[in-house]
Amino acid sequence: MVAAGECLGQDQPVILHLLDLERAANPLEGLKCELIDSAFPLLRGVVTTFDLNTAAKDVDYAILVGGFPRGPGMERKDLMAKNAPIFGPQGKALNDHAAPGVKVLVVANPANTNAWLVSQAAPRIPKENITAMTRLDHNRAVGQIAVRAGCGPKDVKNVIIWGNHSSTQYPDVRFATVKGKSAREAVGDDAYLDGPFVPEVQQRGKHVINLRGASSALSAAHSACDHVRDWARGTKGGSWVSMAVPSDGSYGIPKGIVYSFPCTTSNGTYSIVQGLEIDAKSRQLMDATAQELVEEQAEAKAALEG
Ligand code: LMR
Repeated sequence: MVAAGECLGQDQPVILHLLDLERAANPLEGLKCELIDSAFPLLRGVVTTFDLNTAAKDVDYAILVGGFPRGPGMERKDLMAKNAPIFGPQGKALNDHAAPGVKVLVVANPANTNAWLVSQAAPRIPKENITAMTRLDHNRAVGQIAVRAGCGPKDVKNVIIWGNHSSTQYPDVRFATVKGKSAREAVGDDAYLDGPFVPEVQQRGKHVINLRGASSALSAAHSACDHVRDWARGTKGGSWVSMAVPSDGSYGIPKGIVYSFPCTTSNGTYSIVQGLEIDAKSRQLMDATAQELVEEQAEAKAALEG
């Protein structure tokens, strides 16, 4: 998708740096062959490597997809103990070798707190440049509304995912529109939107894993491209997207946790949409997912110190 211009645009040549573990040397080399054989018009080079510093050298964008996801019976602290040694060194390599102004998207779970781990190891990179992906959840919410409203996904605007890319996230449709009218009116089924819709979006990743026997792949890759493309090229016409970014205290969310907010983007920077009214139910859901992130961050801190 990146080579085909879906991430940075059809006018942006790209050099891909592909990092993997040494035991994946053959598939990695095979992928390089296929990329070259596809003759993508925008592709100007492919670097394959097992070395973090080589991977990070002069990159403008880093998409971090390899982590240690939570397995059955794993405690959160075990998860953080596994991820700190992955994301700390990646953060340091980016800190020392990436292009100034590098933009980082963490996809690997637990994505929000892994992004925080990267930022702890990368003091040279502005904290706001290190983000995590909730665009997949955002797109899932859009997809469900489009199906229910009988329209195309591009007609659905301004859903919000608040908080963590986990089952505590809050998919909020209060400001969502379909072809300019309220999504509630377009869907015409409050019982669905107030009922099954929320757990459906929260649990969609698990549902896909149950069906496929593996995590989402196509939708995750597509959403990563959406995140980077909108960050690089801007949102349009007053619409916003969901991005997990370091909280600046907006909406009373504790500063420093990587929390998903509605964001608009322009000229390579994002702004958290301000001034949305928060009702009592939303407040409760937004605080619950913030609390989970505060706890994850404390576990990650303990893993770094321990
Ligand atoms: C997803 O939302 O599809 C993934 O984050 C699920 C997972 O745990 O890999």
